[in-house]
Amino acid sequence: MDWIARLRAGSDLEDEGLRALLAGEGPDEELFAAADQVRREHYGDAVYVRGLIEISSYCRNDCLYCGIRKSNSNARRYRLDQETILSCCREGYALGYRTFVLQGGEDPFFADDVLCGIVRAISREFPGCAVTLSVGERSLDSYKKLYDAGARRFLLRHEAASEELYRKLHPPGMSRENRMQCLFDLKKIGYQVGSGFMVGAPFQRTEHLIEDIRFLQKLSPDMIGIGPYLNHRETPFRDQPSGSMIMTLRLLAILRLMFPWALLPSTTALASIDPSGRQRGLQAGANVVMPNLSPADVRDKYSIYDNKLSTGNESAQNKADLEKVVRAAGYRIVTDRGDVKR
Ligand code: 5AD
Repeated sequence: MDWIARLRAGSDLEDEGLRALLAGEGPDEELFAAADQVRREHYGDAVYVRGLIEISSYCRNDCLYCGIRKSNSNARRYRLDQETILSCCREGYALGYRTFVLQGGEDPFFADDVLCGIVRAISREFPGCAVTLSVGERSLDSYKKLYDAGARRFLLRHEAASEELYRKLHPPGMSRENRMQCLFDLKKIGYQVGSGFMVGAPFQRTEHLIEDIRFLQKLSPDMIGIGPYLNHRETPFRDQPSGSMIMTLRLLAILRLMFPWALLPSTTALASIDPSGRQRGLQAGANVVMPNLSPADVRDKYSIYDNKLSTGNESAQNKADLEKVVRAAGYRIVTDRGDVKR
């Protein structure tokens, strides 16, 4: 069965096809080539850049895989104030960035009035730019207020669509249902919504990944963020193996074929696991990169996994180097807002 041709033709693959592609029976080269073709049909050779500002390493959650989980008493905590965030945006704007992503742990300090104030200040000073939030689960009312303040995109990975796997990765207080509800709330309000999951998370099997894909089909997100699970020495999963680059690339390619319009980042986790990860992600269908715009002195404190890159091509300041890598991979950096093309 030619599963790749079936996906290209827009038909929904049964689980058997997804299993074959995830097992590398595409074969991989053909899978990646097909994904690249579809990406070029929809987005040409454009790679969109987002300036990532990690606003807080405080988190009230205790996800078992994450280095900034509440129980990690060795995590170095910081939060950025409004003026610091604005100066990151100013620096980013001068470098050509037109999307700012405010990402952080679920830090109660960033209550609605505080975060709305920041979003309003950025929107006022940079009217042509998009503000993306990635600050976790909040109420419908809170998401509405943030939208009214000017935020237009929201990233919230569903993490695991399988109830069984979700429970193994998260503490009892968290629920997959609430997370999914948040995603549907965000969509209803009018945000461009991003979801996603880790590849090779502890206890994850192929069947779980298929559930993730099925959930994404239901949600139909504008953006999908995936990257390999990488361990962190101060979490309960410290001895678990990390995810692999090849599985991440296969999933990126499958997602590109299934969601031709999607904005898919070639993530920092993928770049952190292998020096060629960034390029290979782009060549397997990814069309977004999110270099780090956080102040240099806090970058290593946002340590969600060990050996997370934040310098070199990961640094927003090194745009010329990033441009070279992207060009060498066969693409071109575009600095407009890069809204989804559906
Ligand atoms: N390895 C890889 N990705 C991780 N994330 C959190 N911890 C890890 C880890 N150890 C991902 C989660 C989260 C995103 C911001 O980072 O999927 O949604």
